[in-house]
Amino acid sequence: MYIAKTFHGLETILAKELTQLGATNIEERKRAVQFDGDQALLYRANLHLRTALRILQPIHYFHAQTEQQLYNKVDEIDWSEYIDVNSTFAIDSVVHSRFFKHSKYIALKTKDAIVDQFRKKTGRRPSIDVERPDLRLNLYINDHRCSLSLDSSGESLHRRGYRTQKNIAPLNEVLAAGMILMSGWKGERFFIDPMCGSGTIPIEAALIARNIAPSIRRTYFGFMRWRNFDAALWKQCRKEAWEKAQALKFPIHGADKLARNIPIATNNAKRAGLASQIQFSQADFLNEGPPSEHEQGVLIMNPPYGERISQHDINAFYKEIGDRLKNHYKGYEAWIISGDQTAIKQVGLRASKKVTLFNGPLECKFRKYELY
Ligand SMILES: C[S@@+](CC[C@H](N)C(=O)[O-])C[C@H]1O[C@@H](n2cnc3c(N)ncnc32)[C@H](O)[C@@H]1O
Repeated sequence: MYIAKTFHGLETILAKELTQLGATNIEERKRAVQFDGDQALLYRANLHLRTALRILQPIHYFHAQTEQQLYNKVDEIDWSEYIDVNSTFAIDSVVHSRFFKHSKYIALKTKDAIVDQFRKKTGRRPSIDVERPDLRLNLYINDHRCSLSLDSSGESLHRRGYRTQKNIAPLNEVLAAGMILMSGWKGERFFIDPMCGSGTIPIEAALIARNIAPSIRRTYFGFMRWRNFDAALWKQCRKEAWEKAQALKFPIHGADKLARNIPIATNNAKRAGLASQIQFSQADFLNEGPPSEHEQGVLIMNPPYGERISQHDINAFYKEIGDRLKNHYKGYEAWIISGDQTAIKQVGLRASKKVTLFNGPLECKFRKYELY
């Protein structure tokens, strides 16, 4: 059994992705989807899932109400099955509990139990590497119910490997992919993000339209350092993934008012292997309409919100966005995501869909406007 973690609001999309991959016994949970599958499916899930953050493999469920109980339960596992004294490991922990308060401290206790077990047996201990350990563990505590899992992804799957230059407020890649999948767009119409920043939305759109596995360019996954890593199977999964790639059928555009964002977005697209596939240009959305050759299409945008702009100005800005959509984008389906719940209402168009999503800790509204 595996658990794919995601953001709140993307569980159903993730479950659908898992169905398409061939997973079985799929069950939606809070910010996660549980599923069954073999080792090939685990590798494919890490490669192909656009809306998963990590894929965990639970190895131990237990109850604990004190630190000592937790320590003893962690010590029940024979850790030499997973690592040796020369290995590195790390522990992530999430705690919602009456009995345990500080997740970092709980992770430390868990680490002590593992290290002490090796020390008792061998006099030596494995060391910690929080960046790219040989084994990343995930401890989840819900009140007194604890589960320990191996983290097969090793680091969050939103790190596709293409975005190294960031602008001020980039959208998480997993969220961007989730928004596009939610819109139903798969590449069979023109696509535009007129406020593209570092290009996350157009890049994720191009990966979807071309049926390219989002993590195909990653070189590190947790499972690669597991004892049971099957290099030949992994090679086969990657080969299959490349073979599924297809050509773009319709153009994808990204634009931004700030000239300096254009080379950032272009370079990110280049690193994603999509250099010639997305057209980036500098443009002020409030002065322009869509390219004249595209009378219809899908527009997804993530306008600025918040801190630096006064509420009065931001409200006026969102109203102008709404006016521009109404007057210039007939024939388009437009989606806006915003963390500013007051401003998004100023768009002034009737939303045919309203979804709540999270960009990290920030609650956002994602709304659809049909401009016919
Ligand atoms: C929240 S950021 C978008 C981040 C982007 N989704 C990413 O992942 O990098 C908003 C972007 O809108 C751009 N912007 C603001 N006003 C604009 C306008 N009138 N026309 C076009 N772009 C604009 C900003 O320069 C900024 O890059």
